[in-house]
Amino acid sequence: MKPIKIGLIGLGVVGSGTFNVLKRNQEEIRRRAGRGIEIAMIAVRNAERAEALVCGDCEIVTDPFLVVDHPEIDIVVELIGGCDTAKELVLRAIGNGKHVVTANKALLALHGNEIFAAAQTRGVTVAFEAAVAGGIPIIKALREGLTANRIESVSGIINGTTNFILTEMRDKGLDFSTVLKQAQALGYAEADPTFDIEGVDAAHKATIMSAIAFGIPVQFEKAHVEGISSLQAIDIKYAEQLGYRIKLLGITKRTVVDGVEGIELRVHPTLIPAKALIANVEGAMNAVLVQADAVGASLYYGRGAGSEPTASSVIADLVDITRLATADPEYRVPHLAFQPNQMTDVQIVPMSEITTSYYLRVYVKDQLGVMADLTRILADARISIDAVLQKEPGEGETRTDIIMLTHQTQEKNIDAAIAKIEALETVVGKVVKIRLENLA
Ligand code: HSE
Repeated sequence: MKPIKIGLIGLGVVGSGTFNVLKRNQEEIRRRAGRGIEIAMIAVRNAERAEALVCGDCEIVTDPFLVVDHPEIDIVVELIGGCDTAKELVLRAIGNGKHVVTANKALLALHGNEIFAAAQTRGVTVAFEAAVAGGIPIIKALREGLTANRIESVSGIINGTTNFILTEMRDKGLDFSTVLKQAQALGYAEADPTFDIEGVDAAHKATIMSAIAFGIPVQFEKAHVEGISSLQAIDIKYAEQLGYRIKLLGITKRTVVDGVEGIELRVHPTLIPAKALIANVEGAMNAVLVQADAVGASLYYGRGAGSEPTASSVIADLVDITRLATADPEYRVPHLAFQPNQMTDVQIVPMSEITTSYYLRVYVKDQLGVMADLTRILADARISIDAVLQKEPGEGETRTDIIMLTHQTQEKNIDAAIAKIEALETVVGKVVKIRLENLA
């Protein structure tokens, strides 16, 4: 059988990894796919740099539309990122009857519904293993490996940059901005790190996993997105003293609010028990914990970014498409795991309705009755306290921190209690609130 022909758009970190791994392992990949996978054309901005890498193995162009319009190309691999040109290219490739492989999480989290519908209509596949957690085959696991299960929750460390920063803050007791500068110097964090540190990149990935886990459309606009830029080293230290670590988690789970089923979809710094396996995922590594009814808990760990790890996922998609290229579209694996006419309209609940536990740090004047006031406010709100840590004021100081871990409650209850606590004359400044998940 003649090789399937690939058009690659973008030859950056992931594109060059894809080119190199496909070339290095071509014989093994051919034996798995049943036919060769050949890159026929590459679109790049800098043709000279690309020529030096591919050494005449395929045609180099600077106009990516030549790739999506090329009659001989079967699969377009979109690796340029961003939403404007990438969306135009992907939709045009689909319109031209080509399959698409993309690593573009922002594109799918924002425009996935439109893109998957277009692909469905045209009978082509849009594959995106590389869009979530780099080299970890989590899309395959959620969509196929766990297909027997009712999935209850997916919680992941799905941004390596922030996990690296949090690990360094904890290990070295440094503050956020110092570690961010180090991460940028080491090349872990981008020059503009906003998407990573503010949780947007993780929320794109959590949105995609939420859709696949629960059979709902992608709904990035309903995700709660909170990053790590305002996290203080002191809270990491107190959490540690209480037996917890703070991780930036992407969480999506089933919930019931006032008897109605819903889905939680949120990204924020989270205290998790230090003894949990996922709490020990350090540095730039990623991990995703899935709770499902038949299998129980399963954990997927690996490199969430990088040239060849991400290329590993891109090529896995190429092999899947190659194997299924001749199958009728209705017998292929659905884009979002559930058949398109079997998606549900279970709603993503507003943040005020989510249920979780909380870490509170209250900075107080060291006066008689302060603790009694705090516990009374929480008791009146029917919020149970699980642990308390009070620091002795330092030498010559008259103020100190009180740290409390609460039992589970709804976010609107804890926010109302915090407003009352902040109104106390003995409380100084704002209460620090960090959500806590036991992941049980
Ligand atoms: N910037 C991401 C991270 C990798 O730090 O994990 C690509 O999504």
